[in-house]
Amino acid sequence: MTLFPLRLPLQVMILLAGSTGYVGSAIAEKLTASGLPWQPLLRSHFAHGLDREFTSADVVINAAGFSGLAGGSCDLSENQQELELANVTVPCALAEFSQANGAVLFHVSTGGVFPSKGHAPDKEWEEDEVTTVRGAYLQSKLRAEAVVSQYDKHFTLRIGMPFDTRIDHPRNLLNQMLGKRYTRNAMNSLTYLPDLSSSIVRMIQDGFNQFGTYHVASTHPVSTARLSTLLAANSARSWGACSVESLLSSAGLLSTRKLDSTPYACGMADTCVRYCVTHARIL
Ligand SMILES: NC(=O)c1ccc[n+]([C@@H]2O[C@H](COP(=O)([O-])OP(=O)(O)OC[C@H]3O[C@@H](n4cnc5c(N)ncnc54)[C@H](OP(=O)(O)O)[C@@H]3O)[C@@H](O)[C@H]2O)c1
Repeated sequence: MTLFPLRLPLQVMILLAGSTGYVGSAIAEKLTASGLPWQPLLRSHFAHGLDREFTSADVVINAAGFSGLAGGSCDLSENQQELELANVTVPCALAEFSQANGAVLFHVSTGGVFPSKGHAPDKEWEEDEVTTVRGAYLQSKLRAEAVVSQYDKHFTLRIGMPFDTRIDHPRNLLNQMLGKRYTRNAMNSLTYLPDLSSSIVRMIQDGFNQFGTYHVASTHPVSTARLSTLLAANSARSWGACSVESLLSSAGLLSTRKLDSTPYACGMADTCVRYCVTHARIL
């Protein structure tokens, strides 16, 4: 693959929205560990106006969003105002700011933008397939994607169910299985957050500019039953279990072919799950 340098200055300035959240804090940790200078974009910055708060940026990363309580309903229509602000107004402001400053925009979206019904359970969606979804949350994510994609220097990164070694975190899929809040047996696309963070950091460092939408998830989807078997085999704890027989149709299985053809592909889910269980930071 040919890489065309973005001609980023030696010292890039990165602005990160959502740095206090589950996904954003994993990205923040990786940026810091990689020695890349970054600043958080907080609610107060948006309230005062990004142009007033920041005079320039080379990279803007949007990991902000509103998805309600972990494991809660995907509809969220009762939180319409907060939803609209976090999932649509914020990405619109970031796209506008990035365009005005010529910055590269990374926008975290979700594989949930693909429907769960009316297709084979093992259907893996490609990035450019047209999709319609129900529910206020997913519709807000699709609207944000539509705005972000108007800007030519964007990476829209659709992720699967996120997990990492922070097993105490309620948004971690492994935490949901440990608390038996997620036992529905289906095929799932999983995203190991250190993989997502590494992909972003390496894209920045390499000046990768094949802009567009990418599915950032483990190469092969994993069934919840397989996941609970893996977890049980690697720890003495009691995890949510599912029977293989009750396999349901799946939501948003992500084809990762596009990312796999770049140097920024994610690892295998099995390896990452085993690593998490044996290196878990359980508080
Ligand atoms: N977790 C998942 O299962 C999952 C799966 C797929 C995709 N995603 C996407 O990943 C992104 C982050 O999700 P997450 O799980 O990390 O959520 P999270 O833990 O709830 O964190 C949300 C982050 O967004 C910030 N935020 C919320 N509303 C804001 C606003 N109006 N202005 C500025 N910042 C605001 C929060 O800041 P405060 O600290 O100020 O509240 C926080 O830093 C979302 O876009 C979500 O759609 C998540």
